[in-house]
Amino acid sequence: MKNLILIITIFVSSLFAESFSNNKADVAPVNNQLYIKECGSCHFPYQPGLLPAKAWNKMMVNLDNHFNSDASLNEANLQTLTKYLNDNSAEKNMQYKRSNRIVSSLGKNEIPDSISTTPYMIKKHKDIKKDLITQNEVKGLFNCMACHKTADKGIYGERDINIPNFGRWKN
Ligand code: HEC
Ligand code: HEC
Repeated sequence: MKNLILIITIFVSSLFAESFSNNKADVAPVNNQLYIKECGSCHFPYQPGLLPAKAWNKMMVNLDNHFNSDASLNEANLQTLTKYLNDNSAEKNMQYKRSNRIVSSLGKNEIPDSISTTPYMIKKHKDIKKDLITQNEVKGLFNCMACHKTADKGIYGERDINIPNFGRWKN
């Protein structure tokens, strides 16, 4: 009897562990209001854990020419947000699966210009038909939220993907 209860307990808790891991964030969610305000006005605020610090730093010193946009900040905000990105960058968040994979996919001296051009991201998205990515409802891979409905929560798993004019992704 005791053994039976033990077995049932293990079974039930493994079920919970399973559903818990499905809901767990892939990268640490954004928790900085200034970042959401300043870096979430033109696109959704990308989680700092999606790039290593050296990539964020390269981006932050070029905000006046940010993907052909002017995203420059005043000096105080620039310093605050550069520190926020450094403190929460991918290599500081290796316990999160995606941060870990992104960092591991980069060469030692490789400094990517964007998240979507990191080797890990290219690999993960290579099976999507090009015109599903370039279509008006998406525009480009940079538009994570168009397909990953829970990207703002740091959740990128398959079950929360829904591509416009295609639907749910099933491998
Ligand atoms: C004035 C508008 C604007 C602001 C403000 C802005 N961005 Fe962007 N950002 C863009 C544009 C335009 C792109 C290119 C993709 C697109 O068209 O959205 C881009 C792309 C990016 C990408 C690359 C996405 C990819 O493809 O991997 C990152 C990362 C990024 N921005 C971070 C930031 C950060 C950090 C801030 C705050 C310091 C910021 N952005 C503020 C306009 C802006
Ligand atoms: C056109 C729709 C689309 C866009 C835009 C898009 N993704 Fe994806 N993403 C997918 C699909 C579909 C998959 C699953 C690919 C597969 O498993 O074969 C995926 C996979 C992923 C994965 C791996 C998930 C897993 O369970 O293995 C991550 C992480 C991810 N995307 C992050 C991002 C980020 C960050 C952005 C924005 C910079 C982005 N994606 C933009 C469609 C998209």
